[in-house]
Amino acid sequence: MKITVIGAGNVGATAAQRIAEKEFANEVVLIDVIEGLPQGKGLDMYESAPVEDFDSRVIGTNSYNETANSDIVLLTAGIARKPGMSRDDLQKTNADIVKSCTEQAVAKSPQAIIVVVSNPLDVMTYVAMKVSGFERHRVIGMAGVLDSARFRTFIAMEMNVSVEDVSAFVLGGHGDSMVPLPRYSTVAGIPLPDLMDQATIDRLVKRTRDGGIEIVNYLKTGSAYYAPSSSAVQMIESIVKNKKRILPCSVWLKGEYGLSDVFVGVPVKLGKNGMEEIIQIKLTADEQAALNKSAADVKASIAKLAL
Ligand code: NAI
Ligand code: 2OP
Repeated sequence: MKITVIGAGNVGATAAQRIAEKEFANEVVLIDVIEGLPQGKGLDMYESAPVEDFDSRVIGTNSYNETANSDIVLLTAGIARKPGMSRDDLQKTNADIVKSCTEQAVAKSPQAIIVVVSNPLDVMTYVAMKVSGFERHRVIGMAGVLDSARFRTFIAMEMNVSVEDVSAFVLGGHGDSMVPLPRYSTVAGIPLPDLMDQATIDRLVKRTRDGGIEIVNYLKTGSAYYAPSSSAVQMIESIVKNKKRILPCSVWLKGEYGLSDVFVGVPVKLGKNGMEEIIQIKLTADEQAALNKSAADVKASIAKLAL
């Protein structure tokens, strides 16, 4: 197993470290446009191997030659949000970056599965699919795992319970119109609406929707990366180990949930082939309307692209 991480910034470097420490690949290649950055971080990371006890070889580079024949490409290159910026503000700059990275990566790794992190997530995942020409099961966006992890954390904090007992589902695009699903979110199997009043649920849903900006406002010079890298690596683990976990991921819909020609977060089965199945759950009219609105927002942003 060989995994390339494009972008040696906060998300990329932290993801590479988690992948190496968990030994999800024999070879982890970290690549960036900044000279010396991936080499320095990659070597530093590899020098932690004797202490952390892992055998993944970590390599930092500015050349795609060293990424050749990767099984998975994790795409984190791009600029991150600063205070006052929306994810959509990033679209133009990051579309150019994602286009160029995808072209160069797939030329060397035509069989890879691409996991996209760069924002605006659903639109950048579209760019990666369009530019790579890959079928939809090999181009998957990471957002739902992160948004659900945030919702799970806030539920656990509210109830003072272990996060282990909390599961949650957030669907839709990775933006202000994301769709947290309290009915499908549980604590020890008990649905959220049976455990807290609507006002509390609404407050936690709002904090989840604003989860990204909450961190941006603290950091001021960038955006979240610990939880985002964990979330991307959980998707990679399911692919590498063929675990077939059901995780909310952004995938290209062809009629599922009544939606077509759009990347949007829905529950999918992740295994060695990438996205192996889209799980269709029953939504209420309100939930479906929220998903439709979120998908329409992504479509409108895709329409603004000039690829
Ligand atoms: P960062 O600024 O720390 O790192 C980005 C890296 O990409 C930099 O090292 C930069 O040199 C590199 N880069 C820029 N152009 C490149 C190119 N053409 N080729 C290779 N590398 C290039 O940013 P961070 O925090 O790592 O975030 C990365 C992206 O991920 C941002 O777009 C951010 O908004 C997004 N993000 C998405 C999340 C999600 O839930 N989908 C969560 C967190 C971040
Ligand atoms: C986040 O949700 C910035 O999209 C990124 O943290």
